[in-house]
Amino acid sequence: MAEQTFQNEINKRRTFAIISHPDAGKTTITEKVLLHGQKLQKAGTVKGKKSGQHAKSDWMEMEKERGISVTTSVMQFPYREALVNLLDTPGHEDFSEDTYRTLTAVDSCLMVIDGAKGVEDRTIKLMEVTRLRDTPIITFMNKLDRDIRDPLELLDEVESVLNIMCAPITWPIGSGKNFKGVYNLLTDTIIFYKTGQGHRIQEVDTIKGLDNPALDQRIGAYASDLREQIELVKGASNEFDLELFLAGELTPVYFGTALGNFGVDHMLDGLVDWAPAPQPRATDGGDMIGAEQPQFSGFIFKIQANMDPRHRDRVAFMRIVSGKYEKGMKMRQVRIAKDVRIADALTFLAGDRAHVEEAYPGDIIGLHNHGTIQIGDTFTGGEDFKFSGIPNFAPELFRRIRLKDPLKQKQLLKGLVQLSEEGAVQVFRPLSNNDLIVGAVGVLQFDVVVHRLKSEYNVDAVYENINVATARWVAAKDPRKLDEFRRKAESNLALDGGDNLTYIAPTMVNLNLAQERYPDIEFMQTREH
Ligand code: G4P
Repeated sequence: MAEQTFQNEINKRRTFAIISHPDAGKTTITEKVLLHGQKLQKAGTVKGKKSGQHAKSDWMEMEKERGISVTTSVMQFPYREALVNLLDTPGHEDFSEDTYRTLTAVDSCLMVIDGAKGVEDRTIKLMEVTRLRDTPIITFMNKLDRDIRDPLELLDEVESVLNIMCAPITWPIGSGKNFKGVYNLLTDTIIFYKTGQGHRIQEVDTIKGLDNPALDQRIGAYASDLREQIELVKGASNEFDLELFLAGELTPVYFGTALGNFGVDHMLDGLVDWAPAPQPRATDGGDMIGAEQPQFSGFIFKIQANMDPRHRDRVAFMRIVSGKYEKGMKMRQVRIAKDVRIADALTFLAGDRAHVEEAYPGDIIGLHNHGTIQIGDTFTGGEDFKFSGIPNFAPELFRRIRLKDPLKQKQLLKGLVQLSEEGAVQVFRPLSNNDLIVGAVGVLQFDVVVHRLKSEYNVDAVYENINVATARWVAAKDPRKLDEFRRKAESNLALDGGDNLTYIAPTMVNLNLAQERYPDIEFMQTREH
C-alpha cells in the first residue's frame, strides 16, 4: 500500500522550467500557469513593473530596484490530477549560469516563442543546454493577439534553427485583431478566443468538428480558410509521437496568448498528459538512480542568500531524485561525509516559504545552509555516490576587486569564496601575486557581488579593470605534465573558489598559443561541480 502511494506520488509529478528570449512572455505565462494552478487568486501578481506591484517570485531588493527577476524561484501547484513544479529561471542573460544549472533539475521544458519574432538568440543558447540531456520540449507560440508571422514559417524556423521536429497540436485561426481561437488537431475541436479574459479562468467555448457547419456560421470565411490550412499543415508537418517527444527530438506546438490567458491551459494539458514523471539522474560512477528507488537521494543545483530579509540565512535548493523526504530525517552529505538531520526543509509557493512534512522525487526542497552546502552537493540516505552533470561555465568578464579598507582582507576573501560556492560569481587567486580576480558570465553579477559583500559581510569593495579575456580550467592525465605546466605557466595560473587550477588568459590569442604549446593539458570551458 505504502509502495503504491509512493509510486502514485512519483507518477503525478511534473517538474519543468520555461526557456525563452527576454520579453517573449515567460513571466506572463508563469502568472497564468499559477492562475490555472489556482494558487494566485488573481493573475498579475507575479510581476508588475508598471503598477509597482512586485512579483512574488522577485525576492531580492536589487530585483525590485531593477524590475528584473534575478533569482530562481520554485513554484508548486496542482493541475488536474498532477502536481506541477515550475522552476522559474532568471530571464536576464547575465544570470545564465543559474539558468543552465536549473535546467539540470527539471524533466521537461516549455519553450516560449514570440510569434511576431520567431526564434531568438537566447532561446537558441538555452536549447543547446537542454540538448545535453535530451530534455523533452513543449513549445508555446505566444502573442497571437498581435499580428504574428506565418505559423508554418514559424514551425519551419524552429525545425531548421533549433533542429527539432514540430508537431502542431493546436493551430491558430487568424491573429491580431482577427484572432478567433485555435483548432486542436488531435481532438478535432475548435476552441474560441474571447478578449478581456486575461485575469480569470475562461469558460471553454468549443465547437466539435472542422466540417461542422456551425463553424461557418460562427466565423464566416475564416472557416474555409482554416480547412484549407489544416489540409496543408497535415501534409507539411509531423504528427505527434510520444517516443520522439520523450527523446527530445520532437516538440508539440501550441498557439495562444499569455496576456489574453488563452492556450496556456492547452499547453498544461500537454504537460500533464505527455511530459515525463521524475526521471533518473546519472552518478559519477555511471549508474542511473531512478525515482522509484526507496533510498533517498538529491542534489543541490542552486544556493540563494537572503531570499527573505527577515531570515538572514542562505537556502540551498535540492532536487529530490529518489526516495521520500520526511521531516526530521537523516541525510548523508556525501562531499563532506557527514550525516545531517534535516528538520526544517522548505517548499516554495512563489516566494512564500512553508515547511514541508514530506516531499517526493521531482520536488524541490530548500535546506538552510550555514556555509557547509555547495552547488553540486549530493545528499543520500547513507550511500556514498555523487550525481554528475552540474556545470560551472568559464566566465567571460573579469575585474580585479579591491578593498576600500585594507584591514578587511579576510572578510573579503570569505565573502567571495562563499559567493562563488553559491555560483553568484567566480573568484580567482593568481599563484604569482595577491590579486583577487572576480569572473562573471554577465556584467550584472558584478553589481550583485559588491552589493552583497556590503550587506552580508560588511565590506566595501571596488572594482578595477584587469586585462583578462577568458579563463579555462586545466587538467592533465599525467601529473608530471601538469607540474611542468604549473611551473612554466605560473604567471597565468590561478586557483578558483574551490581551489581548482585555472588558466587566466589576457587575450584569446594567448589562450590559443598556450593550447598549442601544451598539447597534454586539457583546457576546459565548463567544469562539473
Ligand atoms: P519575459 O518574462 O519573457 O521577459 O516576458 P513578459 O512576460 O514580461 O512579457 C514581455 C512583454 O510582453 C510584457 O509587456 C507583456 O505584457 C507582453 N506580453 C506577454 N504575453 C503577451 C501576449 O500574449 N500578447 C501581448 N500582446 N503581449 C504579451 P510590457 O509592456 O513590456 O510589460 P509590463 O511592463 O507590462 O510588465
